[in-house]
Amino acid sequence: MKTDSELVLVTGGLGYIGSHTSVLLLEKGHEVLIVDDLSNSSPEVLDAIAKITGKTPFFETVDLKNQVGVTQLFDDYPNIKGILHFAASKAVGESVQKPIEYYQNNINSLLNVMAAIKTKTNLVFSSSCTVYGQADQLPIAEDCPTKRPESPYGNTKKIGEELLEDATKVHSSLNVMSLRYFNPVGAHPSALIGENPKDIPQNLVPYITQSALGKIAPLTVYGNDYPTPDGTCIRDYIHVMDLANAHILALEYLEQNKSAAHLEIVNLGTGTGHSVMEVIESFKRVSKQNFQYSIGPKREGDITAAYASIEKAKNLLKWEPQHTLDDALASAWKWEQKNHKDNQN
Ligand code: NAD
Ligand code: WQD
Repeated sequence: MKTDSELVLVTGGLGYIGSHTSVLLLEKGHEVLIVDDLSNSSPEVLDAIAKITGKTPFFETVDLKNQVGVTQLFDDYPNIKGILHFAASKAVGESVQKPIEYYQNNINSLLNVMAAIKTKTNLVFSSSCTVYGQADQLPIAEDCPTKRPESPYGNTKKIGEELLEDATKVHSSLNVMSLRYFNPVGAHPSALIGENPKDIPQNLVPYITQSALGKIAPLTVYGNDYPTPDGTCIRDYIHVMDLANAHILALEYLEQNKSAAHLEIVNLGTGTGHSVMEVIESFKRVSKQNFQYSIGPKREGDITAAYASIEKAKNLLKWEPQHTLDDALASAWKWEQKNHKDNQN
């Protein structure tokens, strides 16, 4: 046994959303165990978390696909009371090229964690609005029918929820909430952690900030003849700090509602949709950059519009987003500039 403290296990805790959530957990006084295989993150994030919080979480490099490693982890840390399961591969396009790897990682990792749980445990699963596809009505509430996701990545989220649903019905030790994130953006106000894709970003906001620094080619807006007010797609961009906070409240909710023998599903967005052009305008406003972009063809698989109904999150978790789109873009820009400068030194 490496500690007898009660712990919150954060899988994928050195990644984008996991690192921001780990910071909040530590600041709220939780003892945190981060597990990550570093497949899409770097050890420096651990130093940044320690610098922000003044606390060093427990850390183990474990590939969660490896069942023996996961079993050993739970033997070494028998007092895991809550799990935030962020670890997954998340690149939509890559998942189309490598479906087997995506199912192997995202499904096996989840199954190994679930199988290792022996005592009553609260588990929060990172799901995605991708399970709704192009919803028939907006805003999208949790009871909106899910659709077969376009990508293997998206399908791993749908299957993950189904696995959890089946397991919670019979395993009374499992208390689970699945959080369906809309579009997480932004960074910690310290600019010590943020979104740091290893390859050329596929997502809009990191593409904007990296292209504004000239690191990559100017942005191409994927289509401007959608049936929306300005012709560009609409999404619900949620600040990562608001998202992180919702995870703390989700754990607290599960702690206080031990008997919930079903899978609780909650959307996390702002409840407001913004078009691609509005995101660009927001970036120009907060960065004061003369931002270059062009209009290109539509991207295959893109849906026209998605934004969340967040009534359930408000009622159940007593949560409400605190940050605007401008706040998110300003923090993403601050992070990108600092990250770029540090990498040049
Ligand atoms: P991320 O890639 O930054 O973080 C995931 C972390 O998990 C990485 O640090 C990676 O190294 C680690 N990891 C991956 N496979 C692992 C394994 N087998 N064992 C141990 N560690 C492993 O991604 P993120 O943006 O922080 O996303 C976190 C979660 O939220 C993911 O499950 C993702 O699918 C989900 N999600 C993300 C978004 C988004 O747009 N960022 C939207 C909806 C849902
Ligand atoms: C946002 C908007 C693009 C890049 C993805 C995943 C989804 C979920 C969230 C994990 C769209 C436009 C983008 C560019 C552009 N992730 N765009 N030029 O498509 O909502 O969803 O992230 O679960 O599963 O698919 O987010 O950031 O890729 O795109 O015009 O270079 O920006 O067309 O309208 P998306 P995104």
